[in-house]
Amino acid sequence: MIIAIDGPAASGKGTLGKRLAAHYGFRHLDTGVIYRAVAKALLDGGADLTDEARAVAAARKLDPGIFGDPALKSQTVGDAASVISAYAPLREALVSFQRQFAADPPGAVLDGRDIGTVICPDADVKIFVIADPVVRARRRTLEALARGEAADEARVLADILKRDERDRNRSAAPLTQAPDAVLLDNSNLDIEGGVRAAIDIVEAVRAGR
Ligand code: DC
Repeated sequence: MIIAIDGPAASGKGTLGKRLAAHYGFRHLDTGVIYRAVAKALLDGGADLTDEARAVAAARKLDPGIFGDPALKSQTVGDAASVISAYAPLREALVSFQRQFAADPPGAVLDGRDIGTVICPDADVKIFVIADPVVRARRRTLEALARGEAADEARVLADILKRDERDRNRSAAPLTQAPDAVLLDNSNLDIEGGVRAAIDIVEAVRAGR
């Protein structure tokens, strides 16, 4: 079984993905980490983010061993990831890794921007998670503060809106709800409430087949 979760930055899809995977005993891939890892490799190498050829080369050399690096979570890396993820050849270079991850038994939960539309269009369950940008900014700010980083909520909100705009309006695999995805509005739900709502969606879709 494949569960695809898509949604904008800081909508809570990563947490839902992790929790759904634990609930069903599946593997979980936060695909944002892949784009972040490529972006970090470019930033560390001093590369110009507009250098598409170098971005593609970095994607081909991607080392999944660094997916757990906490430095990937920073706002600088996230912004750079949003910029380079607009390059179609770069996205192409990352497709087979994601599809392979999805296909391996017993099942997988992938979260990102284009899982239900491009990477796994035949996923068994698709969930599109949204949340009010103000709520997302608050959550991101609290997370950053908890990590000991300085964070200004107004700036975090401006960054989230800029990122949404870029991710939705790019021509390569833009962020969009697949026609067969179920919408989950996470604005007024705490983590447990969101997880329950997501499990309810999975069970309803499975029961309806
Ligand atoms: O979910 P995130 O904030 O970790 O993602 C960082 C950036 O990576 C996001 O702004 C756009 C890009 N991304 C993407 O284009 N496609 C995905 N499936 C996941 C992330």
